[in-house]
Amino acid sequence: MKFFLDTANVDKIKYYADMGLVDGVTTNPSLVAKEGRNFEEVIKEITSIVNGPVSAEVTATDSENMVKQARQLSKMHKNIVIKIPMIKEGIKAAHTLAKEGIKINMTLIFSPSQALLAAKAGARYVSPFVGRLDDISHIGMELVETIRGIFDNYDFNCEIIVASIRNPLHVVDAAVTGADIATIPPDVMDKLFNHPLTDIGLAKFMKDWESAFGK
Ligand code: G3P
Repeated sequence: MKFFLDTANVDKIKYYADMGLVDGVTTNPSLVAKEGRNFEEVIKEITSIVNGPVSAEVTATDSENMVKQARQLSKMHKNIVIKIPMIKEGIKAAHTLAKEGIKINMTLIFSPSQALLAAKAGARYVSPFVGRLDDISHIGMELVETIRGIFDNYDFNCEIIVASIRNPLHVVDAAVTGADIATIPPDVMDKLFNHPLTDIGLAKFMKDWESAFGK
């Protein structure tokens, strides 16, 4: 499973990229707004750090302007993937753009039928939002399982990005389910490392070494 970072924070991206843990990056308007920086400048900087797909989202909600924005954004770097919301106008835009060879990440996917439509229209990625489904008492990961089953039945050239990840178990479950990608917020990435027994074990190794050989 590939690891994407779900952030527009370049320091966090650099930090985990140095560990070889970043196969790509996803952003959205909320994440970019949080950084308080110029959108295109941030996206450009991310493409200079990560050698993999970088999702940048359109803010238009009609297909004509989505296409315009997408063409503009995709000129910035060969690794730019255009994130488009899963609405009818978005599907129309995705279809036009896919025919031009522009890669689309269909976002705000909350049902199997939406994922199927996105793949049929030519999207290169679908982003089911597991955390937001969990938030309303639906099991988000069941959606990922269903989409996996559908995509395995056919030969869509469409990868599943598990999005709206809120905890380390979401990442593990995404891998168990056979999702292609998990897009992980930095705080969750950090939690993936932790285990109290690792800390206790290391402290004991250090203490034993010190008592035998000194500092
Ligand atoms: O980028 C889309 C997605 O990962 C958003 O997550 O936590 O805002 O539901 P969240």
